[in-house]
Amino acid sequence: LSTTELDVSAIEPGQAIKASFRKQPLFVRNLTQKEQDEANAVPVSSLRDPQTLKDRTKEGHANWLITLGVCTHLGCVPLGAGEGENRGPFGGYFCPCHGSAYDTAGRIRQGPAPKNLEVPNYEFTSPTVVVVG
Ligand code: FES
Repeated sequence: LSTTELDVSAIEPGQAIKASFRKQPLFVRNLTQKEQDEANAVPVSSLRDPQTLKDRTKEGHANWLITLGVCTHLGCVPLGAGEGENRGPFGGYFCPCHGSAYDTAGRIRQGPAPKNLEVPNYEFTSPTVVVVG
């Protein structure tokens, strides 16, 4: 299976881009400290798909949220990364198809989607280069 190498050096804090990985949309987001704090303030037990931000990021790179850009309901591409700045009521991503709202950790918070946005396998090979897959 193929891997995808990404240079993330141009992605500013607060910005998200849409790339692609194995023909699927991939969201790469540089979380601000405030966005990380918001994610960390949510009681994990209150979540539909209980995961911490730490579970969903790499040690030493907690500001980088890397997920598939595929809604876990029926597969639409949520808004909020590079196009349509509508990030929804929880500040992460918003799926316009049936109204699923994801938070700043890409976790499902409202709407019909059952799971958080999927985090693919990846690793940082330098402070600014990520290899996905
Ligand atoms: Fe995203 Fe239905 S496909 S809410």
